[in-house]
Amino acid sequence: MEKRPIIAFDFASKHEIDAFLTHFPKDEKLFAKIGMELFYQEGPTIVHDLRSQGHDIFLDLKLHDIPNTVQKAMRGIAKMGVKITNVHAAGGVEMMRAAKQGLSEGTKENQAIPELIAVTQLTSTSEEQMHEDQLINVSLHESVLHYAECAEKAGLDGVVCSAHEVEKIHGKTNQQFICLTPGIRPQGTSVGDQKRVMTPAKAREIGSNYIVVGRPITQAEDPYQSYLQIKQEWNGEA
Ligand code: C5P
Repeated sequence: MEKRPIIAFDFASKHEIDAFLTHFPKDEKLFAKIGMELFYQEGPTIVHDLRSQGHDIFLDLKLHDIPNTVQKAMRGIAKMGVKITNVHAAGGVEMMRAAKQGLSEGTKENQAIPELIAVTQLTSTSEEQMHEDQLINVSLHESVLHYAECAEKAGLDGVVCSAHEVEKIHGKTNQQFICLTPGIRPQGTSVGDQKRVMTPAKAREIGSNYIVVGRPITQAEDPYQSYLQIKQEWNGEA
């Protein structure tokens, strides 16, 4: 089956989403990442609205709280019918297990349980900051791998990570473990504020399971053409 790049819907309002979607044919069913900026602005309605148009949702809210609270929050997230959602691995193995439990409790009978992935170290955290702020004294890389292993231990489906970390993480985890990678840039497009980018073709080659692409599609002159090109490259057809 053809894989779709997940589009980062980094928009400020439903109004902006509606304007963006006018570039796509009505029957093109997208996979949209909704982050906390948009979710806290528009609420669950935005998820229901996009789902009712046939789009799939990765709800990127990065939960991190005590296990009981996260479990109950995840029940609510599962009821929204999203495909993927996430937590911070720093919340701990017990919290991640509780999150998974909450998702399974909240999922309606005839629906699939959303995939649950963990954020390891944020890409905005430098090794120096990690040492100073979190008092974690190993390398950033080791910390990322450790968090991936904790996520696997908790029974999560995978992690969000840099495409440059995929091979190492896949080397340490089970075969089904998912690496979802942002920071994707087709050749010749603007890198923006991303530091370590990778093309869709290379991400495919090294074994990313999902790619997240924002501005190369949302800011493109022709978002639909850009989306199709990235999708082709991601599927090894370009
Ligand atoms: O526009 P761009 O393709 O850079 O968007 C990437 C998306 O992935 C943004 O929503 C960004 O917040 C998110 N993201 C990221 N790096 C991470 C985690 C999430 O770029 N490590």
